[in-house]
Amino acid sequence: MGNRLIGYGSYLPERVVANQDFEKIMDTSDEWIVTRTGMRERHFARDDETVVDMATIAAQRALDNAGLTIDDIDLVIVANVSAELDFPSVGCQVLGRLGAKNNAPAFDVRGACTGFIYALHCARGFFTSGMHRRIMLIGAEKMSRFIDYNDRSTAVLFGDGAGALIFEHSTSSYSGIIDTVIMSDGTEFDMLHGSPDHHIMMNGPETYKKAVQLMPDAANYIMEHAGITADNVDWIIPHQANLRIIQSCAQRLEFPLEKILVTVDKHANTSGASGVLALAYAFDNDIIKRGQLILYPAFGSGLTWGAALIRV
Ligand code: UT7
Repeated sequence: MGNRLIGYGSYLPERVVANQDFEKIMDTSDEWIVTRTGMRERHFARDDETVVDMATIAAQRALDNAGLTIDDIDLVIVANVSAELDFPSVGCQVLGRLGAKNNAPAFDVRGACTGFIYALHCARGFFTSGMHRRIMLIGAEKMSRFIDYNDRSTAVLFGDGAGALIFEHSTSSYSGIIDTVIMSDGTEFDMLHGSPDHHIMMNGPETYKKAVQLMPDAANYIMEHAGITADNVDWIIPHQANLRIIQSCAQRLEFPLEKILVTVDKHANTSGASGVLALAYAFDNDIIKRGQLILYPAFGSGLTWGAALIRV
């Protein structure tokens, strides 16, 4: 049993923080940030704006796009690591905000930057088993909560935002979430993790080396598993952590750069929201067309990595 994409929505906070804004408060430069990461600006939520606020707006926009109400959804899965409340899940809070009355279940997955792939993987399993028929997936992060302004090597890298996709049961196995693979290696957890005082701790160069190896590996694995080659793929949407990582992945996959979607310049690294925000941006700007085949590899804290193949 298959599925198909029937709606999308996204939300970016109003406040845009440019590289130059960091120049004023720490020893950094627009030139360093652009050359080393490709980032130019990112969105930061207001102090009183939460992960749930952002997720709820993205979810409502996806429902509007699909012409549905929240009671038409029978499962919500949210990828996030930055929620203000430890419990309940962001998913339950979103259902509450949207006034759901159908008692649909919701849960969060904490796959960090690979979180949305983990959510897609769960959804694929639920569709394949026939357990759920209409699933909303949300990626929502307020990474600005974790910024340590005394650490210039991580402070400039992250942004906030939320995106949502709605998939529906379908008899076609050639549409929607076609295939997914997720992996992890907990022995490397200290390469990139949150600290007890809610700061991002990252060994940048080591994480970089892993990212340029594991994202193409996951992409190759899933193409082989699905019996396709890069020629069959219309677009790659890699996790948006660093333009140099994205370029290196393209090179390793021998995939033309013009078919790689890049939003890291505008959104920076939004962790679990990165891929879904990029896809929503591509729909909004008529870059990716309905029916095209997307390969979405990601990598992040855990370590976690994986890939998804989605016909949109
Ligand atoms: O999303 C989850 C996965 N995350 C990632 O994949 C991130 C992977 N890592 C990276 O993207 C890169 O390693 C960074 C962008 C984090 C860092 O770039 P890099 O080229 O690996 O730089 P580096 O850490 O080796 O630092 C090079 C120099 C150092 O100065 P010295 O020791 O050579 O004098 C740093 O102190 O750059 C310095 N530096 C900065 N300079 C200006 C580090 N951060 C900054 C900064 N502004 N913001």
